[in-house]
Amino acid sequence: MDTPSTFSPEETAGFKRAAAAHAAAMVEPGMAVGMGHGSTAVAAVPVLAERAARGELPGTYFVPAAHFMAEALRRAGLPVAGLDDAPVLDITIDGADEIDPAGNCIKGGGGALLYEKIVGQAAQRLVIVADAGKLSPRLCSRHALPVEITPFALASELRFLRRIGGNPSLRQRPDGDPMRTERGNVIADCAFAPLPDPAALATSLDARAGVAGHGLFVGLASCIVVAGPDGVRELE
Ligand code: 5RP
Repeated sequence: MDTPSTFSPEETAGFKRAAAAHAAAMVEPGMAVGMGHGSTAVAAVPVLAERAARGELPGTYFVPAAHFMAEALRRAGLPVAGLDDAPVLDITIDGADEIDPAGNCIKGGGGALLYEKIVGQAAQRLVIVADAGKLSPRLCSRHALPVEITPFALASELRFLRRIGGNPSLRQRPDGDPMRTERGNVIADCAFAPLPDPAALATSLDARAGVAGHGLFVGLASCIVVAGPDGVRELE
């Protein structure tokens, strides 16, 4: 899903690489590192691989949130483990689709929101990496909120989402079938009006048994690394 941005695709790609390189420099020897999903988080992989090749990261290993990230790490020759091997991660590096001034995020544009939240919560530090085009005054101003739904509950959860103003639309594959997550769930992208209270919405979604996950990351990020025309900065 595209995020509207005032920057060109080339500028945005450069900002993503800069933010990812900044976060990759935070990784230390022996760390267990969660890795999220998306082009910005994946841009950290070659930087980490270069550091490992220089002998800077002995004993460091990586816990990916998605198959795509696992493949990228393996191709780069970096050691991959599961969350059972490292229930407490030292740091997780992940991207975001939209970030508000309080550091709350919408994630899940790539469909890996549930496992991304798990590796984010398992980490002592969740570092979000993003280009400046992701910054927004209020969540849902520029990006729909992905909500992952157990197929058994689809009709009733869509009804619930409509009732609370979510205007949901099912994410589809190019052939028109509903897109399935790695756990076989479906995703409703919800075009809420800009959110006055992301925490309240997160609480009401968390209370629904048929909602397997949602892309609101409220108060989870320890550090947001944003890269833009003025360089890279950390929002703590
Ligand atoms: C995937 C995500 C991504 O981190 C988010 O979509 C950002 O992607 P990108 O770095 O490609 O802009 O949440 O589920």
